Amino acid sequence: MNHAFIIGCGDIGQRAAKLWQTAGGSVGALVRSIERARSLTEVNITPISGDLDRPDSLHDLPVKDSVLFYFAPPPGDGQGDPRMRATLSALTPSNWPARIVYISTTGVYGDCQGAWVTEETPANPRSARGARRLDAEDALHDWHRTTGVPVVILRVPGIYGPGRLPVERIKQGAPVVRNEESPYSNRIHADDLARTCIAAAKKGQADAIYNVSDGHPTSMTDYFYRVADLLGLPRPPAVSMAEARQRLTPGMLSFIEESRRIDNRKMREELGVELLYSGLESGLAACLPDKT
Ligand SMILES: NC(=O)c1ccc[n+]([C@@H]2O[C@H](COP(=O)([O-])OP(=O)(O)OC[C@H]3O[C@@H](n4cnc5c(N)ncnc54)[C@H](OP(=O)(O)O)[C@@H]3O)[C@@H](O)[C@H]2O)c1
Repeated sequence: MNHAFIIGCGDIGQRAAKLWQTAGGSVGALVRSIERARSLTEVNITPISGDLDRPDSLHDLPVKDSVLFYFAPPPGDGQGDPRMRATLSALTPSNWPARIVYISTTGVYGDCQGAWVTEETPANPRSARGARRLDAEDALHDWHRTTGVPVVILRVPGIYGPGRLPVERIKQGAPVVRNEESPYSNRIHADDLARTCIAAAKKGQADAIYNVSDGHPTSMTDYFYRVADLLGLPRPPAVSMAEARQRLTPGMLSFIEESRRIDNRKMREELGVELLYSGLESGLAACLPDKT
């Protein structure tokens, strides 16, 4: 298992690739543009041309006996994930990977009214985005049962890190829900997520699900205030939940109408992940330009 192949080699994929290479492994990745192929070649990742929306381009993927990291999102509409299903259909015994590690989302839990959520909490997606992720998970469970190849599912909340803070949204003055009504939000620093992906490749149990989170949820409004303070920007205006329902886009609304606290014990205990950033205080400080 010295070779890894990444489907969806964007920000987290490239962070994980670097860790994998540092440990002596080689990395290939599916790419759908010449620009991406060039940029990955520069960091010693071997690009293989393909597009998840063109199933005929997915035959003979060079993944035999490799760890297959699947980090691509489902399409932006519908209730299922045809990209994941096309990928699994294209795999044959001649190129079965050693295992698959998939980044899903904690959105599959739906609204839990602020309760703590473990991997035993039933999935109950409320948004189409969550339903699409659950469809991808279901496809992976079925594929594992058919093939016996281990799959590991990571349920991931909001990812933050250098270059991926909500700066534009704060500059635009988009409102947040006032703190007393704001839902819980859960986060993970991009570097900690990449390290968790590597741990899942090495130690994840077959067909297991792991919540990924820094274990210190705060309100979503607290997050925006902290980012604004960090960057020296005015804090966004706060409105009531009722007003937010009228002013926010359906996409943003789907985030604020779900509240849960993600328990990360299984990730820490079974995967042995020791977080670099166990909360926003240290994690956001590491996002400042002189730390990138
Ligand atoms: N943002 C969050 O807070 C959050 C929370 C939970 C889970 N996630 C999920 O975590 C995963 C990793 O995140 P990330 O930040 O690394 O994402 P990212 O930087 O956007 O990378 C996603 C990659 O998927 C590739 N991709 C998308 N559609 C494709 C297609 N049709 N064919 C082939 N490749 C395709 C993209 O290719 P190109 O390079 O060609 O664009 C990109 O390299 C994603 O699935 C994301 O949705 C994100």
